[in-house]
Amino acid sequence: MDNVTMTKRVVFITGASSGIGRAAALAFAGAGYAVCGLARRAERLETLQAEIDALPSPQGEFMSVVGDVRRADDVNAAVERTLAQFGRLDVLVANAGIGQHGAVADAEWEHIEAVLRTNIDGVLHSVRACAPAMRGSGGGQILIISSVVAGVHTPYTATYSASKAFVSSLAGSLRLELESDKISVTDVLVGRTATEFNQNRLGSSESLRGRLPTKTADEVAKALVKAAERRPRHLVMSLFDRIILAGGLLAPALMARLAKRQYEPSKSN
Ligand SMILES: NC(=O)c1ccc[n+]([C@@H]2O[C@H](COP(=O)([O-])OP(=O)(O)OC[C@H]3O[C@@H](n4cnc5c(N)ncnc54)[C@H](OP(=O)(O)O)[C@@H]3O)[C@@H](O)[C@H]2O)c1
Repeated sequence: MDNVTMTKRVVFITGASSGIGRAAALAFAGAGYAVCGLARRAERLETLQAEIDALPSPQGEFMSVVGDVRRADDVNAAVERTLAQFGRLDVLVANAGIGQHGAVADAEWEHIEAVLRTNIDGVLHSVRACAPAMRGSGGGQILIISSVVAGVHTPYTATYSASKAFVSSLAGSLRLELESDKISVTDVLVGRTATEFNQNRLGSSESLRGRLPTKTADEVAKALVKAAERRPRHLVMSLFDRIILAGGLLAPALMARLAKRQYEPSKSN
């Protein structure tokens, strides 16, 4: 390991093969970080490697690990490889996640299970693998990718929003558990973002109703790089997202009705 590698800040990103995670890998590498990206699709990670190698210099470095966040062994092995390659760990972006569309009573159990195992277990495995590595590096920053729907009751995508409520709640508690280790925690409340997320939702493939203001994955990624420096407790991308969060607190029944309109499958299905 050379001295340049030793002084680089190091970030571990789950779900780096597409969308926000892929954009974050490019943005952190562009900002000079050494990046380890984990996901299941090896070919997507290879393409990302080539894109990062082609960034104008000086740029960061990238290594990919093929793995599944639902398996603690995969995540632990990826973090061990990150430490072996880059010597330290400064930032975790716990981003891997999937959505689900359909009523709780009628959805396939495998779909519900996949959402809970990925969005909840995946974040827990990532935090439990990375926090000890950050302690060994003198501190760090955990960015937990939640959603504005964490604060809203959302019929027909209920397991997804409940999984995000779980990780947002987790972020608030972790912040206190880890403060004496100089590890800070940001609850990233992402709003609608143009990625493959909606087409990958498990369950009904019906497209969602209504047009909402949408960010690009690059805009979210830029904000994540900033947050890794500034370490806010919460990160919200837009005024519209703030209004959704305020609505969930102040007018929960109204927000749930609006969400129902957005997600309810059409009667013909
Ligand atoms: N897009 C939005 O509107 C939106 C809004 C709010 C919050 N979010 C959150 O943002 C995060 C990223 O989503 P996205 O919009 O970027 O969607 P995306 O383009 O579908 O990306 C999801 C990423 O997660 C990875 N992933 C899924 N299951 C995994 C598993 N078991 N193990 C490892 N990696 C896994 C996927 O990689 P592989 O398939 O290759 O494993 C992919 O890289 C999610 O947590 C999502 O809930 C998105």
